[in-house]
Amino acid sequence: MAIIKAREFILRPIRITDVQGYFECHKDEDSKANFSSVPTTIEEAKKELQETNKHNKKFAIIIKEKFAGFINLKLTTHPRYKHSAIVGYGIHKDFRGMDLATKALKKITEYGFKELKLKRMSGMCRTFNKASARVLEKAGYIHEGTLHKNKFSNGKYLDDMIWAKWN
Ligand SMILES: CC(C)(COP(=O)(O)OP(=O)(O)OC[C@H]1O[C@@H](n2cnc3c(N)ncnc32)[C@H](O)[C@@H]1OP(=O)(O)O)[C@@H](O)C(=O)NCCC(=O)NCCS
Repeated sequence: MAIIKAREFILRPIRITDVQGYFECHKDEDSKANFSSVPTTIEEAKKELQETNKHNKKFAIIIKEKFAGFINLKLTTHPRYKHSAIVGYGIHKDFRGMDLATKALKKITEYGFKELKLKRMSGMCRTFNKASARVLEKAGYIHEGTLHKNKFSNGKYLDDMIWAKWN
């Protein structure tokens, strides 16, 4: 997996030693509401990091050697879908509101289209996750529509927005 450099941060393959920062990215209330599932223990977080492979590329977002968040690219080998990837991300609460998710998403999108030769990249977020929707919008993704009652959680059906960019 590549190391992707930007002026303010680097994206490098996530490591097991990033587990504390990765776990903390999931612990606050915003994260719990917005992710489909969250690791509830360090051990669960470690397991997720071990699932990183060539079809599930997880990058750590590093600023001055500190773990500031993560960004994922989910790929598939299915011949009809291998031109396409799904993005996911989380920023540690100490690093939010600094345009970091947007800049990291722009970088990974450029990497996906230029280096991996993808034709489509997409991301989903809950309809109430205004910050994530704005990140996708700022990174040039188009709102394709809403998946109504896409998830059932805590006795409620939740709607998801789907955003995509293609070339
Ligand atoms: C969503 C998340 C990744 C955004 O990260 P970030 O680095 O703070 O995002 P950025 O700074 O690049 O941009 C955030 C944008 O959302 C806007 N925003 C933040 N909260 C908002 C709200 N409640 N309503 C409307 N807009 C909001 C910001 O003003 C900013 O837009 P602007 O530049 O036009 O002012 C971060 O909050 C996070 O990790 N949340 C928990 C996990 C999560 O939701 N992950 C995504 C799952 S789909």
